[in-house]
Amino acid sequence: MATLADRWNIHPTHFWLRGLQPEKPIRFDEESGIWNVYGYAEALKILSDPATFSSDTKRLFSSEAVNEHKEGNLIQMDAPDHGKLRTLVSHAFNRKIVADLEPRIREVTHELLDAISDPNELELVADLAYPLPVIVIAELLGVPSSDRDLFKEWVTVMLEDTGQLSMRNRDPDEEEERDHQNMIEKWQPMFDYIREHVGERRRKPRQDLLTQLVTAEVDGNRLTDNEVVNFAVLLLVAGHVSTTMLLGNTLLCLDSHPDWMARVREDRSMVPGAIEESLRMFSPFAGVARSTYTEVDIAGQRVPPDQMIMVWLAAANRDDRQFADPHTFTPTRDPNPHLGLGRGVHFCLGAPLARLEGRVALNMLLDRFPVLRTDPDNPPTFVPTPDMTGVRTLPLLTG
Ligand code: HEM
Repeated sequence: MATLADRWNIHPTHFWLRGLQPEKPIRFDEESGIWNVYGYAEALKILSDPATFSSDTKRLFSSEAVNEHKEGNLIQMDAPDHGKLRTLVSHAFNRKIVADLEPRIREVTHELLDAISDPNELELVADLAYPLPVIVIAELLGVPSSDRDLFKEWVTVMLEDTGQLSMRNRDPDEEEERDHQNMIEKWQPMFDYIREHVGERRRKPRQDLLTQLVTAEVDGNRLTDNEVVNFAVLLLVAGHVSTTMLLGNTLLCLDSHPDWMARVREDRSMVPGAIEESLRMFSPFAGVARSTYTEVDIAGQRVPPDQMIMVWLAAANRDDRQFADPHTFTPTRDPNPHLGLGRGVHFCLGAPLARLEGRVALNMLLDRFPVLRTDPDNPPTFVPTPDMTGVRTLPLLTG
């Protein structure tokens, strides 16, 4: 699989994409002040111990501008607030509710593929992998999916900015605080947009997730507007960028393994396995951040309190102490306990939805296009954010 990363020059510094193992499972980076964890066992230890490894990494740098957007952002919350909010929103994403979305996901996928102007040339991301998950999550939330071009604009800016933020382990200086302010100003239209919808649902409830969020109670208290807005933005962002990459990455993996492309095309019971293996080898969320509450030992390395840790899920997913032949794409790998969707209390809330969208879309693509292959004259491009691995555009030839 090293050839795939080299062929398209994906994240040149990410050694795991090039078939290499780390020298050590944990390494401190002097320049950024961040501890990078690459080992599977070490990653598992961290994700399984939220009392020691906090998800609230923003507490390490007290930028007011950034803190305002923390409330209600599930992914950055710790106990007990995390558990309360998670319980409240979990039922909206349970297996039954998600399974019931399948007919609508199929319908949207058909419509999007029908709308392609030249079926000989597919740009997988623009034609399907971006609009599909964003339409589904927007409909679930109850915001107009026709505004998806706006979401795309906001989310692109946001991801580039948060990539910069998560790579730092200290309070911002004056200039950085100003940068944060500028950053938040750029994000503001998205928050304002959701806030308007939240206000409207308080006045006029509907049958949608936003209404559920504004009316739900945690310990007898309703969520504040700020909490609902931040959580809804998280869903809108997390709910589609990663699924977009998942679908594109899976196609890319199959494209570079024509033998597997043929086998999966022939035997569709292999589709879920191909998706899981793509999540392992090209994990869209390549790294997640944690901060230490107390001094702790990781692989014999003493890490003091209040340190920032990047847990490189994508590297752990290729740890040869855990996975046999970790750099080989094997859709039949069983078991495949990859960490691509996280682990522990913060395990991806949208996992059933992402898997379902991936399965429906991949099956339909294989049904409708007898040939799907990359175009050497028109190569894919990749999301530049270092803690994300995935296609940004994926032109495919269909003949
Ligand atoms: C392939 C697609 C996806 C990938 C690779 C992915 C990956 C992840 C990962 C690794 C985490 C754990 C973060 C951590 O531990 O800090 C996570 C959490 C989360 N994901 Fe996903 N995700 C995907 C799709 C989705 C979808 C479709 C949604 C929503 C509709 C979603 C919503 C969330 C939320 C709300 C959390 C936070 C859960 C918590 O903190 O309790 N994700 N995701």
